[in-house]
Amino acid sequence: MVGAAAGALAACTEPAPAPAPVTPMRFPDGFVWGAATSAYQVEGAAKEDGRGESIWDRFSHSPGLVRNGDTGDVATDHYHRYAQDVALMAELGLKSYRFSISWPRIQPTGSGPVNQKGLDFYKRLVEALRQRGIAPMATLFHWDLPQALQDAGGWESRDVAGRFGDYAAIVYDALGDVVPTFLTLNEPKTVVNVGYIYGVHAPGIMSSAKAWVAAHHLMLAHGLAVQALRASGKKAKVGPALNLNPVYPAQDAARAAAELRDGFENRFWLDAVLKGAYPKDVLDEIAKRSPMADHVRDGDLKTISAPIDLLGVQYYNPIYVDANSRDVLLHPTSEAPWQQLYPQGLQDILGQVKRGYGDVPLVVTENGIATPDRLGAGDTVDDQARVAFLREHLAAAHRAITEGVELIGYHAWSLMDNFEWAEGYGQRWGLVYIDYPTQRRVLKSSARWYSSVIRTNALA
Ligand code: FCB
Repeated sequence: MVGAAAGALAACTEPAPAPAPVTPMRFPDGFVWGAATSAYQVEGAAKEDGRGESIWDRFSHSPGLVRNGDTGDVATDHYHRYAQDVALMAELGLKSYRFSISWPRIQPTGSGPVNQKGLDFYKRLVEALRQRGIAPMATLFHWDLPQALQDAGGWESRDVAGRFGDYAAIVYDALGDVVPTFLTLNEPKTVVNVGYIYGVHAPGIMSSAKAWVAAHHLMLAHGLAVQALRASGKKAKVGPALNLNPVYPAQDAARAAAELRDGFENRFWLDAVLKGAYPKDVLDEIAKRSPMADHVRDGDLKTISAPIDLLGVQYYNPIYVDANSRDVLLHPTSEAPWQQLYPQGLQDILGQVKRGYGDVPLVVTENGIATPDRLGAGDTVDDQARVAFLREHLAAAHRAITEGVELIGYHAWSLMDNFEWAEGYGQRWGLVYIDYPTQRRVLKSSARWYSSVIRTNALA
């Protein structure tokens, strides 16, 4: 190859044309550059200031359920180190910080009186962010359900959706003037699949019958939280954070299988929120496994489809299926075996949302990669695989914007390494490295690279 190329060059007598100028991919003015975390994954302080037990405390303390027996008891100690972390965010130039509020900090048993000390933590955090000009984006539920509500039936119980509406109202009342954007639920699909069908996440159920009942109540909870914001009179914006996966047939004969799988991965959630109906093909399948339909009452879908202001899209991986509806691996994966790497999938799924549902403003609320990071000489972490991942996914996001998708922001998952659920601290997803024994924060190469993207509002 090298020889042939050299020969071709030697044969070339004309001067080589000047290389085309590389135009940086500029993002729209005001594009919101952010990074995300969630309460149980970073806060620690599990028993402090009146916080109640969550299902993830119970799950992680049950032997054998989380790798290495890791728990979120201390996590990255964000509860105590938030000021330092906000200073880091400012150093990186972040415009937005997406964090989640721990329901059992606000209501230790999921209902009843407010735990003021819990609310105060988020007031301090939001104040620190605002002082640095970083917009807070608060997720109301990132999986840490109060254990007392699980004991009362969890998401299988309709009552829990009502409790969530009450909790949301408490949060809006306290923070609705200083937090411009709320996200209701993080990835209800993951709660259903991983928490209720596979049982690998809390609450560890393993029942499709129960899973789809829980799915409906999660969606109802979302709708009630949207309604509660409108009832509060606050001006903040609200929407859900849905993990979406473009589904591709691995071969021609797999088209029907891919269409149905798209229903489970994407249309079930999007149609409910944006069209006020669950898709019929998916409902027919669910009916074979679950009495979900018996739990859908008149008016529920109207609640679920209460108008939203924005849609959070979380993209990690595509899905390929064969004609027997089995998953097929076509690309290399990251450290997380479920994550096939395919940046084009981000453009595809954003385009799919626009084509199917019109122009609801979209925000990428999570996108990231697990890499085997090591602390190197001179306190460096050279995570070039993450730099490449971010560069290619941001290029895909830029192509989506160019084709007319109303994408208004992007949040890297995650600001820092943290408790990765059943994988414990073994997988690192952060822009910032956490040296767990000392809790030292070290900027990875990806953090510095992302910071330069933010500064120039462009991909070079
Ligand atoms: C998403 C979760 C987030 C994190 C990433 C890797 O599904 O929302 O908390 O675990 O995956």
